[in-house]
Amino acid sequence: MKRIAVYPGTFDPVTNGHLDLTERASRHFDEVVMAVLLNENKQPTFSTEERVAFMRDAVKAWPNVRVDSFGGLLVDYARKIGASVIVRGIRAVSDFEYELQMAMMNRRLIEEIETVFMVPSESYSYLSSKLVREVARFGGNISGLVPDSVEQALLKRFRSS
Ligand code: PNS
Repeated sequence: MKRIAVYPGTFDPVTNGHLDLTERASRHFDEVVMAVLLNENKQPTFSTEERVAFMRDAVKAWPNVRVDSFGGLLVDYARKIGASVIVRGIRAVSDFEYELQMAMMNRRLIEEIETVFMVPSESYSYLSSKLVREVARFGGNISGLVPDSVEQALLKRFRSS
């Protein structure tokens, strides 16, 4: 049976830390589905379509990675696409509490879906979408932290605001 993992997130925007994890996950599962959250209430910097497009462009070199968006409960989405594993990244101990809560809740909702925590390369251990947005907003250098298309889009977004 095909082992499918779902890697969910807001990805506002995708960073090289996310992609480091995606590449690692792609080596351990038959298929990895990057699931971009449809933020119905929150106001992300980039629309769902933009976040999905950045992600598609960023993962195009990996044949067993595909991109989708989802709303509602993650476990329902995982079941719908036949994923048995949820991949989440842990950068530091501070990530762990929230991630553990989510993993426990998701397990309570659907017992069979396992959460697997993965650790990015240490060079990305401080990286987050939020920090990237903040640095870009104030004109700081974000090259090497996000894919080129994302860097250009952030520069454009904050130049015009
Ligand atoms: O990258 P993020 O923003 O930390 O990702 C959070 C995400 C998308 C994994 C989480 O918010 C989520 O799963 N949302 C879908 C709704 C849901 O299933 N909530 C219950 C989680 S226990």
